[in-house]
Amino acid sequence: MPVRSRGSRAKEGYHKVQDRLAKVCRPESLVLSHGYDPSRSEGALIPPIFLSSTFVFPTAEEGKRFFEIAYNLRPRRRGEKLGLIYSRLNNPDLQIPEERLTLLEQGAEAGLLFASGMAAITTSFLALLAPGDAVVSTEPVYGGTDYLFRTILPKYRVKVRFVPSGVDRKELVRVLNELKASGSRPAAIFVETPANPTNVMTDIAGCVAAAREVGRGAQRPWVLVDNTFLGPLWQSPLRHHADLVLYSATKFIGGHSDLVSGAALGRRELIDRIAVYRTILGTMANPFDGFLVLRSLDTLTVRMKRQSETAKRVSRWLVRQPQVSRVLYPGLPEDAQQRRLARRQCRGPGSLISFEVRGGERGAFRFLNALELVKVAVSLGGTHTLAEHPASMTHSDVPREERERHGISESMVRLSIGLEDPGDLIRDLQGALRITSRLAHKH
Ligand SMILES: Cc1ncc(COP(=O)(O)O)c(C=O)c1O
Repeated sequence: MPVRSRGSRAKEGYHKVQDRLAKVCRPESLVLSHGYDPSRSEGALIPPIFLSSTFVFPTAEEGKRFFEIAYNLRPRRRGEKLGLIYSRLNNPDLQIPEERLTLLEQGAEAGLLFASGMAAITTSFLALLAPGDAVVSTEPVYGGTDYLFRTILPKYRVKVRFVPSGVDRKELVRVLNELKASGSRPAAIFVETPANPTNVMTDIAGCVAAAREVGRGAQRPWVLVDNTFLGPLWQSPLRHHADLVLYSATKFIGGHSDLVSGAALGRRELIDRIAVYRTILGTMANPFDGFLVLRSLDTLTVRMKRQSETAKRVSRWLVRQPQVSRVLYPGLPEDAQQRRLARRQCRGPGSLISFEVRGGERGAFRFLNALELVKVAVSLGGTHTLAEHPASMTHSDVPREERERHGISESMVRLSIGLEDPGDLIRDLQGALRITSRLAHKH
């Protein structure tokens, strides 16, 4: 690339320089400056927090044009951008992180930031479903999503059928056809992969193939993937032809346990459709959380890489511990089918490890109570390593038989690896396991 003086860069303008950089730089370099022109904010390197609820239109005609785009009143012209209107529709602290997330999510054309992961999931479903539709979901899924499927959607005459995570294409086609035969329109397949907390992976391409087998065009079910555990670094569902990627941005994307947010990414046309529902339901993120997400995206790649490296080391250590009866981690797949899938679908195993401590709930609680460096808390993907007991915490509202069917046992502990030194983490886990077995022998 030719060396350019500061003067020529200033004359050339921000967009031309960014376009040139986009051709030669990797997303983790581009993400630091993408979508923000410092000259429009007094040269501030970091975008300010725009707390303004409304934005002044350059002209009335421009205001009219912005609304035409925001409300999908006509197709967007090629490259046409939505101007700033009102903070329930858009705001620089939403638009900039949305554009940067789009850059990081392979295959995405556009994205939206929400008030929470649940806001992203519910808004997307309300935008895509109608009464009489049916949804097929892998199971287990995050408790909030499970509640939406079992309790809320059926109130609006949307039927939800569960299939076990790891389900194959053939079985999925059978379930979709059964729904069709019963008079429902299979409108969506929802996949959480790897599943929380069992880490069982589901074949995204297989789900897309099943969707294509049962319907074409408007009749084809959408494939929605909750990519919270591995994305955007280690898994790209849109590359496997999923329609929509959903996130709890509270987790890795936020990464510092100081915000609650969510995201949806996919094709422009689908995102525009969901954006109208976000506007009407008011489920957008606020400017301050948008700003925090923006701050977090600068370090997302380094955080996720480091967390995954540490998790690999911790998982290899855990399998050798006599007090641990089982380790569930995408880096240590339990069978050949999961191993092949991990290789085909994921670029890395991520940093969530579930494992079983001998002694049932009592054993798991003794272990959790003996941890010092690792904190006992729900949530995941942040800088701090957290441990929790899925059966009595995140998945306590899932009926016991279902928990047992999916292998969420009383002895299971879920560990979300953070940024601590791997040796220090192992020492803490080792100390807690020793105390656990000492107490078990005493009683
Ligand atoms: C996989 C998954 N999806 C969605 C959510 C919901 O996200 P939020 O808590 O940001 O609403 C969670 C929360 O734990 C989750 O783990």
